[in-house]
Amino acid sequence: MDSLNPSEGAEARVALVTLDRLPNGGFAEVEAVIDGDAESLVLYRDGDSVRAWLNICPHAGRRLDWAPGQFLKSREGLLVCAAHGASFQLADGVCVAGPCRGEALRPVPVDVRDGAVWLAAAT
Ligand code: FES
Repeated sequence: MDSLNPSEGAEARVALVTLDRLPNGGFAEVEAVIDGDAESLVLYRDGDSVRAWLNICPHAGRRLDWAPGQFLKSREGLLVCAAHGASFQLADGVCVAGPCRGEALRPVPVDVRDGAVWLAAAT
């Protein structure tokens, strides 16, 4: 079995995080190389599926977390940017309240397999 083997070199073959470190309904922050650049990502787990976005708020380009890996979730179940309170739907990353209403987080395709989250193969 060669999963979790980063020596293969391809970005898509490096596990971002194991599922046991990402509780259902919770967030994680990970670093990944996207298009050749090191980026911070926010991961959100919803049961057996995981969604990922760049950890960059469309309002002013700040990180969404108030400390590395510490994300705010509103009572309504929205991801809230720690900088100025923009609130994003977890289903699609669209901002529904705050200073960048109508804009959206940039999604990053990921797969869940072998108990871990992986960057999806480039298309
Ligand atoms: S940078 Fe996120 S709300 Fe301003």
